[in-house]
Amino acid sequence: MKLKTKNLLTLAELTPKEFLGLIDESIKLKKQLKGKNNKPVLKNKTLTMIFQKPSTRTRVSFEIGMYQLGGHAINLSSDDMQLSRGESIEDTAKTLSRYTNCIMARVYDHTLLEKLSEHSTVPVINGLSNTFHPCQILADFMTIKEKKKKFKGLKIAWIGDGNNVCNSMIYGAALSGVKISIATPKGFEPNKTVVKQAKKLTAVELTTDPFVVVKNADVVVSDTFSSIHNVDPKRMKKFLPKYQVNSKLMSAAKKDAIFLHCLPAKRGQEVTSDVIDGVQSVVWDEAENRLHTQKALLVSLIHA
Ligand code: CP
Ligand code: NVA
Repeated sequence: MKLKTKNLLTLAELTPKEFLGLIDESIKLKKQLKGKNNKPVLKNKTLTMIFQKPSTRTRVSFEIGMYQLGGHAINLSSDDMQLSRGESIEDTAKTLSRYTNCIMARVYDHTLLEKLSEHSTVPVINGLSNTFHPCQILADFMTIKEKKKKFKGLKIAWIGDGNNVCNSMIYGAALSGVKISIATPKGFEPNKTVVKQAKKLTAVELTTDPFVVVKNADVVVSDTFSSIHNVDPKRMKKFLPKYQVNSKLMSAAKKDAIFLHCLPAKRGQEVTSDVIDGVQSVVWDEAENRLHTQKALLVSLIHA
């Protein structure tokens, strides 16, 4: 499946049909891999990865994904590039475009990705910015589809910080038609423009009460209270204990609700061990699905 967009920076570039198509494609690729029928459809293609921030899942799943597709990935820390000595993002984009078939970047400032994609002739994928994490949400919705077999009629409850993952989760809900209900402390709401855009396609509820959002929820989601770019230790006071997903909060959702977390998790802060390591948690499938969804994305963006 070819996508109309050249880049994936937010998820808003996709139509609902493309988003759902990518999920189905990912499920197919997972079956192929497990059935030892992996197809090297990106033979001789390369992915260049730039990291301004640390990563475990994103780096490893993209690198192994490219390998399984018959291609190759190289990993660059921005500190080791001429970028760190003042070379412009424009010149970096133009140079890399002459070598590689796709660029994946994890950055602080989202506008850096916009500049990178504007000046590169090859696709650019957002591997997390301060504002969005689209690849995570592809994996999350694949996991929801695997566990719930459908999207129609589902309700997602987001509890905690209205952060990068939350913004992308709202786009994912809009593209799949799933209702999303978000509980954050005052001042930690998700991006207003994202909420406004998503409301055209699905129901988006914002509140400060975690018990309101988990009511009738099929999927309960949390993420760290201190993202890589938010290091102020005073933040914790705004979130704890009210926004912790513990067994009491989890039991106020539907009986068969699943628990998602993009990882890395801080047990005892945004989630308790009994929830993230309990029977309703699907976080390891979710982490694995980063591999399958990103392979589907790479195949859809890198054309012959
Ligand atoms: N979930 C996620 O993006 O993990 P990493 O930071 O380890 O890549
Ligand atoms: N919100 C987290 C996600 C990490 C994958 C962060 O930005 O650090």
